[in-house]
Amino acid sequence: MQIIHTVSELRARLAKEAPVGLVPTMGNLHAGHIHLVELAKQHAQCVVVSIFVNPLQFGVNEDLANYPRTLAEDCAKLEAAGADVVFAPSEKEMYPVPQTMMVEPPAIASELCGASRPGHFRGVATVVLKLFNIVQPQVAVFGKKDFQQLFIIRELVRQLNLPIDIVASETQREASGLAMSSRNGYLSATERAMAAELHRVLQQLVKTVQAGQKEYAAAEALAVAALEQSGWDVDYISVRSASTLLPAIPAEQDLVVLGAARLGRTRLIDNLEFQLT
Ligand code: PAF
Repeated sequence: MQIIHTVSELRARLAKEAPVGLVPTMGNLHAGHIHLVELAKQHAQCVVVSIFVNPLQFGVNEDLANYPRTLAEDCAKLEAAGADVVFAPSEKEMYPVPQTMMVEPPAIASELCGASRPGHFRGVATVVLKLFNIVQPQVAVFGKKDFQQLFIIRELVRQLNLPIDIVASETQREASGLAMSSRNGYLSATERAMAAELHRVLQQLVKTVQAGQKEYAAAEALAVAALEQSGWDVDYISVRSASTLLPAIPAEQDLVVLGAARLGRTRLIDNLEFQLT
């Protein structure tokens, strides 16, 4: 496995490789990321994992400086997982001049997570397009845990005619049901013991809707109340169309429930796709 820090070296390394699979990450890797690499290996001959903590997607109150940077440990995990190349550019390499050209994501980017993280998906879409242009992969793999991000990246590819297949990986969970996330590392022992509750509450909401509850707002309010009672600070719980991410209407059958909530200072997200018959 090669660790490359510059765009020119990466281009030279990939010149004769096809198909190339890209797994974009911000590092601090866990088993969920390793699953993305394994999936990429099924679709590509050469798997590139990018590790870049992208300042453009952090808001002013979000802790960019303290985001865990664990390159040596990450590279050891990626080598064991069979990645071929790690692309770990510096900020100067990714943004040699101020990034004034930005990708404007669709309106849905200002709902759900975007409502409390203005500009976040603009930063994500911009860095992902740059990574796509730098690596020129045929396939790129993203996790469904970041369902809204995945939706926006699919739109990026569709609306800008990028010749890239987006492969979605199922959310990897701990035995408790807690979705794997780099942010779980911020939880205290007490918070960690409580953290799977977000998943349980979403499961309960799915059951309620599948049992015939058509008043989605009422079901969402119950889910919010259940989490608040246990000390969570809920950002949103929302039943949406899985294909458009717009608020679900009763006739719709392919749905997703998404939630974001804080336990102490850690903001966790999760979602569950489900069908109505
Ligand atoms: O999901 C992430 O880790 C990031 O948002 C991504 C896609 C690597 C862009 O910085």
